[in-house]
Formats: sequence, structure tokens, C-alpha cells
Amino acid sequence: MDLTQRPEPKPENTPAARRALCPGSFDPVTNGHLDIVNRAAALYDEVFVAVFVNPSKGGLFSLDERMEMLGEVTAHLPNVSVSSFQGLTVDFCRANDIGIIVKGIRAVSDFDYEQQMAQMNYGLAGVETLFMPTNPLYSFLSSSLVKDVAKWGGDIDGVVPAPVAARLVTRLRDA
Ligand code: PNS
Repeated sequence: MDLTQRPEPKPENTPAARRALCPGSFDPVTNGHLDIVNRAAALYDEVFVAVFVNPSKGGLFSLDERMEMLGEVTAHLPNVSVSSFQGLTVDFCRANDIGIIVKGIRAVSDFDYEQQMAQMNYGLAGVETLFMPTNPLYSFLSSSLVKDVAKWGGDIDGVVPAPVAARLVTRLRDA
């Protein structure tokens, strides 16, 4: 990686410039994620929502369940597709000719790490990152917090899409 070498600017209309990726764990997808995906879909021709398969981190929902929920809640967006990936995000970008990663920033606390990843991803593959300020309605929201609230019987309507809320209630009741 030579960070002093800047990649050639990409012509405006290449597929890579018109394709964006929203990567994440999505365990499960929240209204905060969905807000970012909706807005990315209005900006780019194609948006890939991809679940990162992290072998060292289990989750409440399986990969298939996460993808199924993402598929349900993005079904109204014809230019959005749902997939998964292992390994580096930039390798997924290369394989699919994606030039931009879109990330929601909830607060300053998100920024430090997101900036490091953005700079690393640019250095590795010239993939740009767009930081999108989260809708303030959802700036406190995370999948972990939602799971904790649901676990103890709190109200999660309004913070996750209805199909996700239903699955959370069932999963935690059966746990
Ligand atoms: O929803 P999350 O858990 O905050 O998502 C984090 C994710 C999956 C976007 C990040 O961990 C990631 O990109 N992982 C893939 C591995 C990788 O590319 N690591 C180097 C990042 S510079």
C-alpha cells in the first residue's frame, strides 16, 4: 500500500462511480440502517447491502435470517440488492465494481474508527467512503441496544421495522 500514490480519478459514469455499498453486521437491521440505505438508494444507481460474515463473532440471528430481514425491509427499493461477504470489504467492492462505501455517522464517537477504516479502504483499493449523518431520530440507535431493550421486554416499535420487531420478540421469547 503506497498512500502517497493517489488512484486515477474515475470517470463520472463508470459503474464503480454509480454503485455503492452499505456494509454491516445487521444483527438485526434497524430503522437507522434502513434510513441510510433509503438515502443511498436515492443517490446511486445501484446499492449493495452486504452482511459481513464474521467467524469470530456469533450473533442473535443467523446470516440467512439477517439477509432475509434485509430483503423484506428493502423490497420497496428496486435498485437495492442484499448479499453477504467474508474477508475485506474492499475485496467485495473490487469483485462487484463498487466505488463507494456509504456509512451512517450517528455521533462524533462513530467518527474516529470510521475515519480510520475509510482511510485504510482508500489506501488499499482507492474505494471512497461517504459519511452520511444519521437522521437525528435514530442517532442513539444500535442493533445491540435494540436487542438489550427487547430482551428485557421494552418497546422496540419505531426503532426497528415491524417484521424485525416480530422476529426479535419470537427469538427472545424462545431463547
Ligand atoms: O455493523 P458493523 O459491525 O459496525 O460493521 C462493521 C463492518 C462490517 C463494516 C467492518 O467491520 C468491516 O468492514 N469489516 C470487513 C473486514 C474489513 O474490511 N476490515 C478492514 C476494515 S478497514
